[in-house]
Amino acid sequence: MCGIIGYCGPRPAAPILIEGLKRLEYRGYDSAGICVADHEVLTVFKKKGKIAELRKVVPAKLPGCYGIGHTRWATHGEVNDINAHPHVDEKNDIAIVHNGIIENYTSLREKLEEEGHVFHTQTDSEVIAYLIADLYEGDLERAVKQAVQLLKGTYGIVCMHRNEPGLLIGARNGSPLVLGIGDDEMFLGSDVTAIIAHTKQVVYVEDGEVVAVRADGFITTDLRDRSVDKKVETITWELQEIEKEGFDHFMQKEIFEQSQTILRALQGRLDHENGTGKLDGLNMSKQELHSIERVKIFAAGTSYHAGLLASYLLENIARIPCTTELASELRYRNPLVERNTVYFAVSQSGETADTLYAMRELQRKGARVLGICNVVGSTIPRESDGGVYIHSGPEIAVASTKAFTSQLTAFYLFTLLMARMRHMSLDQGRVFIRHLESVPDLVSATLAKAGELKVLAKKYSVAQDFLFLGRGTNYPVALEGALKLKEISYIHAEGYSAAEIKHGPIALINEKTPSLFLVPNDSLRDKVISNMKEVKARKGKVIAISVEGDNEVADIADDVFAVPAADELIHPFLMVVPLQLLAYYCALELGRDVDQPRNLAKSVTVE
Ligand code: AGP
Repeated sequence: MCGIIGYCGPRPAAPILIEGLKRLEYRGYDSAGICVADHEVLTVFKKKGKIAELRKVVPAKLPGCYGIGHTRWATHGEVNDINAHPHVDEKNDIAIVHNGIIENYTSLREKLEEEGHVFHTQTDSEVIAYLIADLYEGDLERAVKQAVQLLKGTYGIVCMHRNEPGLLIGARNGSPLVLGIGDDEMFLGSDVTAIIAHTKQVVYVEDGEVVAVRADGFITTDLRDRSVDKKVETITWELQEIEKEGFDHFMQKEIFEQSQTILRALQGRLDHENGTGKLDGLNMSKQELHSIERVKIFAAGTSYHAGLLASYLLENIARIPCTTELASELRYRNPLVERNTVYFAVSQSGETADTLYAMRELQRKGARVLGICNVVGSTIPRESDGGVYIHSGPEIAVASTKAFTSQLTAFYLFTLLMARMRHMSLDQGRVFIRHLESVPDLVSATLAKAGELKVLAKKYSVAQDFLFLGRGTNYPVALEGALKLKEISYIHAEGYSAAEIKHGPIALINEKTPSLFLVPNDSLRDKVISNMKEVKARKGKVIAISVEGDNEVADIADDVFAVPAADELIHPFLMVVPLQLLAYYCALELGRDVDQPRNLAKSVTVE
């Protein structure tokens, strides 16, 4: 949710902290701040708003070669300068930055207030600084360990004390924390984007671990001071991948990367000779894969939509019963874990709290949980029983796009693998592969027509309400289209199965509410056309995403965007791209902050 960072080394800390926070800004952009120490004095700068506002108040030449920083997604306390992090104790001895939620902060705060302490913010995090100060007897690491054992909730914390120059203490429970190993300098961050400009050598801190970091090294222990050996891993991403590379926005770049990213998700995973998919990361033997009798998928947001679409593929093509659920609901409904059932946790960031905790709950019940994730080394892939990395590269824009089509690709591969282990013939498997291999070029051809969606956005971005309608595998795509428009243009949008609207939502239809229909030439085309006519009969405006040359649809709709003809199997890839672009251009028309829409954050690490 929030982004935290720490630096200790020979270089002035402030510019490094601010540059790192800029890269973490997609995790939360309500306010930001840094604390740098020099000659045993802690100096804090914090400001409401984006990093750009913070830059304005931090002196260019700020002495001090170690410090911490934070970019905030507000959970407790309004968005203002005071509630921004870092938080310090009353004597300005200790400074902390925190990502997560302290659920018992009120009782801790009341106890400290009874002892005469005076708090200055409305946040849950401030109590951490006060607790550490209260327990401090000259050893910051000890005080941190004692303090975190009083906390209920989630945290990724980095803190410093003015009397222990050059030392940073990091601790984690539920929120991600990565250590970066440089030459005579060290970094701490919520994720590798904060570190990659300086080093690719990283260590992932696990729950219950505390890391003491100095410029020349680090020591990891658990809360009972037992030493923990840590594996140093290498980041596989390049720095320029987290740059815009000439595009105006990360979202635009990530939409236009999709023909390459889908290709990357397919790379090395198509077995042409045997007409099947290869997913070695599942950690399952052929016998175990064959004994799967049911698949259950859980996720949040866009990942949930990818999982929902997968349930259609697995039942229809692999003939395996499959259901998809919201992770946040699954976690608390005391689910029954049945034999021969495989679960998939789908998450781009690999850190979404709802999905992570649902996974842990299922694993506690003995389930095998596989991950479909993008961020290498994130928590869900590290704690899952196996899975598939989708290799989309860093996805910086808050609105997920390329991860969606790569998640779909992973599920198409799994469907092929399962189907070939059951009723699908070698020839059918090879046909399936041919269709999958045609996707990147067909997506490029669809992207080449982006200009048409810019024109449609100009016309329809004035709408206050918008309906997205599809059937079959295009129902989850309609949900995804509505989510994209909502989250970046702030236009109220709903996705529905096109058949469902006559059971109520059709009451919303009027000349001002456009209905966008996904009408590929598949087995449900005629049904969707009837639904379009029902809306037209009520003077509703109809936009159709159809296939080139479908004149019947063009005659009914007010506006049409036609994708290249393709097999029904792969239509979802071609149907979703125009919806991503329409949302992007509508947001531009309305002057929205496309990459960092209001109230959102890229990785939701709190419940
Ligand atoms: C999608 O555009 C949103 N950013 C959001 O719904 C996101 O999909 C959801 O928070 C899940 O994130 P994850 O894939 O990283 O778990």
